[in-house]
Amino acid sequence: MGGPPARMPTLTCDIADRSLHAKGLDRIEWALREMPVLQQIMARFEKEQPFRGLRMAACLHVTTETANLARTLKAGGAEVALCASNPLSTQDDVAASLVEDFGISVFAVHGADRDLYYKHINGALDIEPHLTMDDGADTVTVVHTERRNLLDTIIGGTEETTTGVVRLRQMAAEGALAYPIIAVNDAETKHLFDNRYGTGQSTIDGLIRATNYLLAGKTFVVAGYGWCGKGCAMRAKGLGAHVVVTEVNPVKALEAMMDGFAVMPMAQAAPLADFIVTLTGNLGIVRGEHLPDLKDGVILANSGHFDNEIDIAALDKASKGKREVRGGILREYDLGDKRVYLAGEGRLINLAAAEGHPAAVMDMSFANQALCSQYMAQHHKDLERTVYSVPLEIDQEIAALKLASMGIKVDVLTPEQEAYLHSWQHGT
Ligand code: NAI
Repeated sequence: MGGPPARMPTLTCDIADRSLHAKGLDRIEWALREMPVLQQIMARFEKEQPFRGLRMAACLHVTTETANLARTLKAGGAEVALCASNPLSTQDDVAASLVEDFGISVFAVHGADRDLYYKHINGALDIEPHLTMDDGADTVTVVHTERRNLLDTIIGGTEETTTGVVRLRQMAAEGALAYPIIAVNDAETKHLFDNRYGTGQSTIDGLIRATNYLLAGKTFVVAGYGWCGKGCAMRAKGLGAHVVVTEVNPVKALEAMMDGFAVMPMAQAAPLADFIVTLTGNLGIVRGEHLPDLKDGVILANSGHFDNEIDIAALDKASKGKREVRGGILREYDLGDKRVYLAGEGRLINLAAAEGHPAAVMDMSFANQALCSQYMAQHHKDLERTVYSVPLEIDQEIAALKLASMGIKVDVLTPEQEAYLHSWQHGT
């Protein structure tokens, strides 16, 4: 394949409207207030320049929190190109501010169609990155399928979400992964907070913005009781909904039951539901066979990574007509005997109809992204072409910084406790 490809000076950007930048800047600064860990990392990166001479292609939801991550990477010396990891999650004012106020290349337009979405991924990849950063593994997939010449330059990458990690582990198992990746999602300071509290709150936020419905007294079906599902079920219960959980994993189902939720298969839950929210990372959770049993007026939404958890083609097929209600974030399907509503086109509802996770949890997720990218830049030569967990010291450092930022102190092991925990001779 020869040496690294000659650098192409193609780097520009593609965003909706540069004039939105002032509003974007205000919102980016507002989010930064809630991101004290990332602020500290940004300050350190400015001094240490860990990414000097490195190019990064990041495919993430283009939100205020991501803007602060991009600023952090740039502060560390990286040349950054950012594209969207979902066509509906892009905040156009944020994209404008990144370009106008921070000089970062952005390829993202809210509502992009599939062609433009992939054009944007390719636009970011034109930077010929040394490092990739994904939320759903789309740049990794494009690199490994259509743009393998870029493998000459790439030294490693990071992945943000469960679905991306599942895809990448499969690639590694089949020997198809051509460079090392750190699974940021696996960090405890990521999934315990981002997936649970972040998705929990922002999914409910998206549902409320899409419908303005009261949740109290409603039957709220949560499909999947993983980290995201747990958070969503907990928050829906907090608002007074009757929560029903569907699962395929007996342990998770048992956990949901002991957490106080009704557990049953979707075929049984669907006819009861006022809301059905899918958070499984799997496909076809609400299918054509469930449609005849749905109640009139049911709200269907998805907060899993891809828009394939609700079978939209089956909805289209079964309906006599459809129309947008409530400004394009809620679509009504006329099924003859009833009307069924799909929120946010079946895409991540918290990003399609709300603003995504609160900055306070993204602070930790993106601190992991920043520190894992630094780790990759330093250690890539020692790493295999596989998926790595986040180094424990990074996870612990982020938790300690977050606690410190809140003024919370914790106990320290005494020497006696330390010795006790490392011994096996002590008994009753
Ligand atoms: P997880 O692996 O912890 O949980 C998924 C759960 O779904 C598992 O318990 C699994 O047994 C269950 N499941 C699988 N197939 C099912 C089926 N047919 N019916 C019912 N349950 C089923 O994953 P996690 O972290 O909760 O993520 C779930 C999805 O949400 C992923 O696609 C992830 O990428 C995405 N995600 C979305 C976020 C957002 O902002 N909306 C944030 C973080 C993750």
